[in-house]
Amino acid sequence: MAAKLFDTKNNLVKHLVVGVSSLAAAFLIRYASGVSWSVSFARVSFLLLFMTLIIGPVMRLVKPSKLFTPLKTPWTWRGELGIWFTVTGLAHFCVVMSGRPGWSLLKALGGFFGGGGYGLANLLGLIALVLAIILSITSFHRIIMFLGIESWKWLQSFAYVIFYLVVLHSLYFQFFSTYGEGPDMFGYSMILMAVVVIALQTAGFIKTLKEPKAVSGKKEEYQV
Ligand code: HEM
Repeated sequence: MAAKLFDTKNNLVKHLVVGVSSLAAAFLIRYASGVSWSVSFARVSFLLLFMTLIIGPVMRLVKPSKLFTPLKTPWTWRGELGIWFTVTGLAHFCVVMSGRPGWSLLKALGGFFGGGGYGLANLLGLIALVLAIILSITSFHRIIMFLGIESWKWLQSFAYVIFYLVVLHSLYFQFFSTYGEGPDMFGYSMILMAVVVIALQTAGFIKTLKEPKAVSGKKEEYQV
């Protein structure tokens, strides 16, 4: 089962809905919980990634007919959610970097692997961001046609890699660094969201295994 962070049906109205909601959420988090802009964009980005990744497995487990509109077709929002995850992740990165003299990426990375937890956590975040940008750019119809569906699907399989990188990156800042006042509600919710993604991914995979295989006509070929 290929995890898809984006789909091919990006739609302008849905982009407006997701974009405006994401910015509104960033404002709300910024002023309601008094965190910095970089943290509020980071949290919105995390939430969008979570929503993007649970849509596929949830739709495999729950029959769409049992859900109400617009949730009846939630997978059609996946592309927009995925792209706005990248946009808000990029906004988070830009705010973090704007606080560093000369936008020194090398210093933000603490000289790469030698830089201790902070540098390594930022490196994981940066790899996730670069992958997210690649997946966003390649989610446009013409580029998908150029790449071919198989190559596009292969690229999409990096969606969960992005998720685990982001989880490790965020866990560091919430639980293993001294930048804030220690873990807060978001930190614990983040763990819950990570557990939900892993559980849904596993359940979706088990369901796929149990489904009758479409290759029944070719059964003999496998009975060597
Ligand atoms: C898609 C990419 C990224 C996502 C989704 C993301 C998400 C997060 C999250 C959820 C937090 C924890 C916020 C909290 O305490 O509640 C965080 C913190 C942080 N992230 Fe990222 N991050 C990403 C990329 C990056 C990159 C590339 C850098 C820098 C190279 C970076 C630097 C930081 C820093 C310095 C913090 C500490 C809090 C702050 O100053 O904002 N992040 N990030």
